[in-house]
Amino acid sequence: MTEWTIMGAGAVGCVLAGLLSRRGEPVSLLLSERHRGHLHPSLELITLSGQHELVHTRPLFAEQAAAVTTLLVTTKAYQVIGALSALRSLPAATPIILLHNGMGLLDEVLAHFPHNPVLAGVSSHGALKEGDWLVRHTGKGETWLGPANEAARACAGLVEPLARALGHAGWSEDILGLQHRKLAINAVINPLTASHDIRNGQLLEPRFAAVLEQLSEEVHRVMARLGQQESLARFRRRLRSVIELTATNYSSMHQDLHHGRRTEIDQITGYLLGRAGELPVPVCRQLYQDIRRRQGR
Ligand code: PAF
Repeated sequence: MTEWTIMGAGAVGCVLAGLLSRRGEPVSLLLSERHRGHLHPSLELITLSGQHELVHTRPLFAEQAAAVTTLLVTTKAYQVIGALSALRSLPAATPIILLHNGMGLLDEVLAHFPHNPVLAGVSSHGALKEGDWLVRHTGKGETWLGPANEAARACAGLVEPLARALGHAGWSEDILGLQHRKLAINAVINPLTASHDIRNGQLLEPRFAAVLEQLSEEVHRVMARLGQQESLARFRRRLRSVIELTATNYSSMHQDLHHGRRTEIDQITGYLLGRAGELPVPVCRQLYQDIRRRQGR
């Protein structure tokens, strides 16, 4: 049985730790420097049915990377490279599973860890931090993993324990396509809700109809250029359904901006702009500049 080491104790990382541990899977948390010298606090998970459960995890720090057997990366996108580079003694056989939001970091990770199996993934579980070590699981989701290099092809078996613990996990040979599908949704909902200071569901108010129409068209255009075959009408239906399902949520970008944290705008809208080429994407560009200005960089 492998031990799952979770790097990134944000909402999604803590929910994954909780769901794995309550299924008897060994879990450790790779903690950052600010936790050093403190007593390792117990993580508490509020399950979908509202029960409070203590989660058993083992604390680890970067210099103990030699003990990591399977690494799940759930940090903020802009922390991924820095946090991974600190794991100098990570064994070459340890699979690295990238589950962070946003895209554009893969080449750098592959260059840093040329021998490790590197897997990319997407997860749509809803999670909310209610305290430093208190996390609420707010929605059941799907989790997909797939190979980002040849070595990762031998790691398809990792989805079985994940599926048992999370309710769903699958293996996809087109993980890049699934990441693009998720990024397309994020590229519409996140910057718009952050820029207008609204909950996801408010995007369906008539005052946002025009900008939603134009932005979804721009995002769809870039996705088509990247090989996505989904029609614009289907993309809009999928977008609407995510907005409806998460209507009362504040998006992660909204929350980051609201709490004065750096956002993932570079790895979401920035990724898209970087791949737009000659395509006209004025709303994307304007939102990118707006969020960058508001976060102060
Ligand atoms: O980033 C987020 O907040 C979520 O991915 C989504 C789907 C936009 C819902 O809030």
